[in-house]
Amino acid sequence: MRFVFTLLLCLTGLFSTALQADAGSGQSTYASRGCIGCHGASGISVVATYPSLKGRSAEYIRKNLKDYRSGARKNNVMNAMAAGLSDKEIYNLGSYIGSLK
Ligand code: HEC
Repeated sequence: MRFVFTLLLCLTGLFSTALQADAGSGQSTYASRGCIGCHGASGISVVATYPSLKGRSAEYIRKNLKDYRSGARKNNVMNAMAAGLSDKEIYNLGSYIGSLK
């Protein structure tokens, strides 16, 4: 019983560390890829023509970035921005943006 409990604790620890790492890496990508310039430092855009991302779920962000990358969702700016993103970067951007509250 004690063993199972310890095991569960370890797993929960690992899981939350992994989640934090994803969001942290997403935050660096958000800055290094220039997303911050249009969508704002904490996902709140300062220019009306650029949508704020704060409040969007991780799943929404990931799906829409994949759609921009594949061309399923069309917008010249975002198609170009998403073209260079890897699956991992998209996943982590979702974790980071989805965590903005
Ligand atoms: C030059 C400005 C600019 C940059 C840089 C930029 N975006 Fe965008 N983004 C836009 C515009 C404009 C739209 C609205 C496009 C549309 O109407 O589909 C948008 C839309 C989005 C959406 C969909 C929002 C919604 O409400 O459906 C997501 C997600 C997004 N951008 C993420 C990113 C990420 C992540 C980056 C960095 C890799 C990035 N953007 C870089 C201008 C920008």
